[in-house]
Amino acid sequence: KSNEFQQMIEAHTLAANFYSHLLLNTVEGEKALHYLEQRGFSREHIEKYGIGWSLDDREVLTQLLMRKKFDMKEMELAGLCIMKNDGTGYFDRFRGRIMFPLHDDNGNVVAFSGRTLSESKEEAKYLNSPETPIFEKSRLLYNFHNARLNVRKTGKVILFEGFMDTIAAERAGIMNSVAVMGTSLSDIHLNKMKRIANQLIICCDGDNAGWDAAKRFAVLSNQKGLDAKIALLPGKMDPDEYISTFGGDSFAEKVIGNPHSYMSFIMAYYKRSKNLSHENDVLQYIHEVLEELASKVSPVERDLMIRQLTAETGVSSNALNEQLMKKVGKLAKQEK
Ligand code: GTP
Ligand code: MN
Ligand code: MN
Ligand code: MN
Ligand code: MN
Repeated sequence: KSNEFQQMIEAHTLAANFYSHLLLNTVEGEKALHYLEQRGFSREHIEKYGIGWSLDDREVLTQLLMRKKFDMKEMELAGLCIMKNDGTGYFDRFRGRIMFPLHDDNGNVVAFSGRTLSESKEEAKYLNSPETPIFEKSRLLYNFHNARLNVRKTGKVILFEGFMDTIAAERAGIMNSVAVMGTSLSDIHLNKMKRIANQLIICCDGDNAGWDAAKRFAVLSNQKGLDAKIALLPGKMDPDEYISTFGGDSFAEKVIGNPHSYMSFIMAYYKRSKNLSHENDVLQYIHEVLEELASKVSPVERDLMIRQLTAETGVSSNALNEQLMKKVGKLAKQEK
């Protein structure tokens, strides 16, 4: 079994070097290299993250692996190759994509995520390796092996939804960030971060999916006893877009340097979709915030939030407190 793991990791390492060579040193890789440069990737970062290019060819990697005498059944299990329909051989899983190697906690390449260059919606933007004996999505945090030391030093870890954001964050001098592969955050991810950090800063995309992900991540982190704060972005930007538009310094100071507490985030979350000059929206907003207040938070935080609600809605703090106590009473009854 351990030999099988070893073979799979060796094949991934070989593939990563091959893809990197194609990106950096060949005519076929030029278009992808320009794309990356245009998105702000420096040569240094391309090399550090091992980024590459998979040729738009059906079987270059397959042939390389065969020449190196890898067991092709195993290569299929490892997610690098796919068996042809007629069973006569294999072809490459990744073709014509920018290749981002995914590393395990020891820095071994165990999977890939490939980004298309095309803007058409027909093709998935990212293609990931399938789950394999060496790659589990719920276990892997992008950049964990690089960030670990800096996380320990600062006690803080920054969590993004996409690995592009982690790479961009380096331009803001942020060396203690990781990313999930997609939008689910597992118990294993949380434990991993909790072992080396006491503070977590969640920084998801500014679109609706990102706000919802941030809320989910924050709730899960709190349940884990991780002190989580949430960094917010203006408009619907994601961290990478913010850094490209406003620069790394602004990102480090204004976004990551100024994260919200859970309750402050929650108020922004519910306020986002509302117009507080409409009475219905005001009532709904108060209801949602008080529900949150009733179920958690310290008396001091409660006081702060009530004051903010009063300022935002014009409803007196007496009325708000009275309503809140009703909700608290209801909750207490439910618990009995
Ligand atoms: P860019 O558009 O290149 O800047 O990437 P992004 O990081 O902004 O991507 P996005 O916010 O759309 O998605 C965040 C994460 O979700 C990515 O890092 C992927 O892990 C995952 N994801 C996004 N699109 C896809 C997809 O089409 N397929 C899969 N499997 N995962 C995706
Ligand atoms: Mn997104
Ligand atoms: Mn998107
Ligand atoms: Mn994004
Ligand atoms: Mn992006």
